[in-house]
Amino acid sequence: MKELIIKDLFVSVEGKMILKGVNLKIENNEMVALLGPNGHGKSTLLNAIMGHPRYKIEQGQILLDGEDITSLDVDVRAKRGLFMAFQNPPEVSGVETMDFYKEMINSHREQDNPVGLFQFYNMLKKGYKEVDLPEDMNTRHLNEGFSGGEKKRNEIMQMRLLNPSLCMLDEIDSGLDVDSIKTISNVINSQKENGTSFLVISHYARLFELIKPTRAAIMINGKIAVDGDASLIQRVDTEGYDWIRKEYGIEVKKEDDKKPVVLETCAVKKVK
Ligand SMILES: Nc1ncnc2c1ncn2[C@@H]1O[C@H](COP(=O)(O)OP(=O)(O)OP(=O)(O)O)[C@@H](O)[C@H]1O
Ligand SMILES: [Mg+2]
Repeated sequence: MKELIIKDLFVSVEGKMILKGVNLKIENNEMVALLGPNGHGKSTLLNAIMGHPRYKIEQGQILLDGEDITSLDVDVRAKRGLFMAFQNPPEVSGVETMDFYKEMINSHREQDNPVGLFQFYNMLKKGYKEVDLPEDMNTRHLNEGFSGGEKKRNEIMQMRLLNPSLCMLDEIDSGLDVDSIKTISNVINSQKENGTSFLVISHYARLFELIKPTRAAIMINGKIAVDGDASLIQRVDTEGYDWIRKEYGIEVKKEDDKKPVVLETCAVKKVK
């Protein structure tokens, strides 16, 4: 990937506008940290870039190497090299992890050239070693009963198997113990050496100290309020977000702007 450009992006979810004019550029092999208070639209941005069908693009454009990918389906975007690790990886019962990996890898290859058994075996062996998961995880159903940390390491395993050109990580460090954060950071750093660009969400400076982003952007009220160098991470870590209100005159909204749901409504609501 040479560059990803987000232009004036407005995105709604279930009829509610979440992103309200996001502008952001990620260049080749850059690592951009995405910060911001809870509920201000960070995960929504990643899902919209990836093409999750629930996130409706109302206005604006997503340009990948000059091509407008705004209306492409999620699988087409994945084939273009986009990858996203979920904040909350879903459990998929009935699907063995190994079968999922194989389908995932083959969907990125020509139909008449599926991955060979020996190559697949070696890829899994190497990947599991890197993310420090036991190899027998591959016979379990995808994410089912995995611990929080195992789910996150499994996301990074998928990143390694796909070797994407733009990798978006949504709170990959949540649920990881201190040693696991180091393990995962080493894998992220190796992936970056392959030339991959990154957009990484985290609430904690610890991960960023290990993966060293080249830039940081702060999302407030569905917009990128501040875009600057990596020193923003330290500032947010020590001061929080209040300085943005003072220095930029942006009110950091805490409450939802729609009408509150009154509990009485729930009490009388008929279950269908
Ligand atoms: N499917 C949905 N239906 C209704 N509202 C939604 C839906 N998905 C997201 N939202 C709302 O959109 C807003 C932004 O959510 P988002 O997950 O993007 O925030 P975030 O910045 O990633 O927060 P966090 O740091 O807590 O992960 C929140 O108010 C959330 O409740
Ligand atoms: Mg989020």
